[in-house]
Amino acid sequence: MKPSFRLPRAALASACAVILLAACGGGQPAADADADAAAAAPSADGAAVAAAGGEVNLYTTREPGLIQPLLDAFTVSSGIQVNTVLLKDGLLERLGAEGERSVADVLMVVDTGNMLDLVEAGHTQALQSEVLEAAIPAHLRGADDQWFAMSLRDRVLYAHKDLDLETFHYEDLADPKWKGKVCIRSGQHPYNTSLFAAMIAHHGAAETETWLGGVKANLARKAAGGDRDVARDILAGICDIGIANAYYVGRMKNAEPGSEQHQWGEAIKVIRPTFNVDGGGTHVNISGAALAAHAPNRDNAVKLMEYLVSDEAQSLYARANYEYPVKAGVELDPVVASFGTLTVDPLPLTEVVANRREASALVDKVGFDN
Ligand SMILES: [Fe+2]
Repeated sequence: MKPSFRLPRAALASACAVILLAACGGGQPAADADADAAAAAPSADGAAVAAAGGEVNLYTTREPGLIQPLLDAFTVSSGIQVNTVLLKDGLLERLGAEGERSVADVLMVVDTGNMLDLVEAGHTQALQSEVLEAAIPAHLRGADDQWFAMSLRDRVLYAHKDLDLETFHYEDLADPKWKGKVCIRSGQHPYNTSLFAAMIAHHGAAETETWLGGVKANLARKAAGGDRDVARDILAGICDIGIANAYYVGRMKNAEPGSEQHQWGEAIKVIRPTFNVDGGGTHVNISGAALAAHAPNRDNAVKLMEYLVSDEAQSLYARANYEYPVKAGVELDPVVASFGTLTVDPLPLTEVVANRREASALVDKVGFDN
């Protein structure tokens, strides 16, 4: 996906950039190839709204369809216009090129590793907010509150729907009783290195290496493809169990009845594994948000981030992609609710993500993807 529109080159003064953003954003969805044309013609309503409450500039890697309903609701409730810059790739490079002149106020990305990359490059700033702290447990926030999880992406077990299995530990994946029965995507995919990094945090690198070798020995096929292919291959009888993100099941089970995806979704059940340690929970990755380092509209940025943890926004956001709300007590999508309660592993995500490079090295060392 291309950016919905191009920001002016970094050489332009930020004030100029803000004006251009305001003129280009228009609060219009940017979900298709006509995004540039649509965004270039803000509605009269949008202009009035911008005048009333000011604006905020959001740089995000998330698909427009997922966040636009939220942003529209925020604008209606706050009078603040959101100018969205959608970047599938190159957010770090973009912020690096813009430097102190960046007009970014809020950064939204997926994956704790990506969040940490932004922090380490100096593109975020600490934010003390009682609203965010009340809504988001400390272990799901960055060090110094440099970032905040906004939704959770639990990494779960897909099991054949008829399998006599109710609970599972991630450690069980290496049990020889599953020999030739496990499917999973590449060990180097960030979804997996994140899980393996959590395993290192719980058990240390040596035990994790042994475990990874055991999982490798149980694979029914090469570690490749996507998460949905685990369900596809369970339906095809290639494997009995596999590891994948829960939200794909929401997408598959809600797909058109009779479609391939729907059949894959109907072939499996979801079990939320936990780590086999005292108080161990289910591994989650996140989508998150951070206050940009040079945010020119700081107050509005804080308002947007605080809005994102309101009950209304949390439900809208989580349901849009079948993710799990970060805030407790928020209404769930019915398919997601059918998986039962999510008990999030209590290890701080910052501690987990610190092991991601070591996890990646172990994947290579055991030849996981060979
Ligand atoms: Fe995904």
